[in-house]
Amino acid sequence: MSTTAIPTPLTEAELKLLQALVYQECGMHFDERRAHFLQDRLHRRLKECQLDSFYSYYRLLISNEGKEELSRLVENLTVNETSFFRNKAQLDLFHKFILDDILRKKQARRDYTLKIWSAGCSTGQEPYTVAMLIADALAYYQLRNSLPLPEITPRPLIPPPWRVEVLASDISYSVLRAAQSGTYSDVQMQTVDYSYRLRYFDKIGDRYAVKKAVKELIHFDFHNLKTEYLPQRNDVIFCRNVMMYFDEAEQKRLIEKFYRCLNSEGFLFVGHAESLLGLTSRFAMVHRHNGTAYQRIEVPE
Ligand SMILES: C[S@@+](CC[C@H](N)C(=O)[O-])C[C@H]1O[C@@H](n2cnc3c(N)ncnc32)[C@H](O)[C@@H]1O
Repeated sequence: MSTTAIPTPLTEAELKLLQALVYQECGMHFDERRAHFLQDRLHRRLKECQLDSFYSYYRLLISNEGKEELSRLVENLTVNETSFFRNKAQLDLFHKFILDDILRKKQARRDYTLKIWSAGCSTGQEPYTVAMLIADALAYYQLRNSLPLPEITPRPLIPPPWRVEVLASDISYSVLRAAQSGTYSDVQMQTVDYSYRLRYFDKIGDRYAVKKAVKELIHFDFHNLKTEYLPQRNDVIFCRNVMMYFDEAEQKRLIEKFYRCLNSEGFLFVGHAESLLGLTSRFAMVHRHNGTAYQRIEVPE
């Protein structure tokens, strides 16, 4: 145990070992631009664990007893920046064109279940935004294509026989806890306009709480995108501003996995600064009014 205040030096070799371990664990890649951030977080964790060398910290991380510390380190390395209605042009494409297309095709097949996955959901703003947009789109869709079913009062958020399942996952337990609580400050609500606030939130003290009916559409869960297990049969996957922290090899592997867990003609949304260009030939770009998505290309067996 160290009692000295002198920061422990991190050698080049130790940094390489720890970089490789983090990459293997979660796919996050720390190149030269981001090595400083990694070093800073490693120093903090070393201090917290009261260890006197990065090599002993590395030994802890690869031991059985170190599993918890490894997830704590990963958690400390994630960037959790997010907001409601992030990348409006892309969400308009989802809401106004893609959802309509999916709903029409599903209704023709009498398949009334819509499955969406927000992979790397952070504190929940993305899956809640998606759930609100789906509720609106379905209400409008039902208005134009109503099914001969008895009217239910009060009108449910999701009109029967439709069923909506939004899976929201992340590698960080702390953001998942915040997402699950579903309450947001004034600052976090800045990008939510009044019509959405009125319909989908309750004001509790100085915070806004997502209404129960919206929360019920979403299932929050821990999931590491580096693993081979992925939830299947998704109509749409949102994985925005996550891949940018992976290197090209890991991005390619992830896109391949997304291909396999999307339904036929399903859609993938990535972040504004991310692209599938040059990484795959199994998706076609859909671009409309500045919004971009990628659609699975069906290849004959
Ligand atoms: C910048 S946030 C993006 C949030 C949201 N998708 C958006 O665009 O607003 C990135 C999220 O990805 C998560 N993440 C990073 N690596 C991951 C992994 N290997 N598996 C699952 N989630 C991961 C982080 O914990 C973080 O919450």
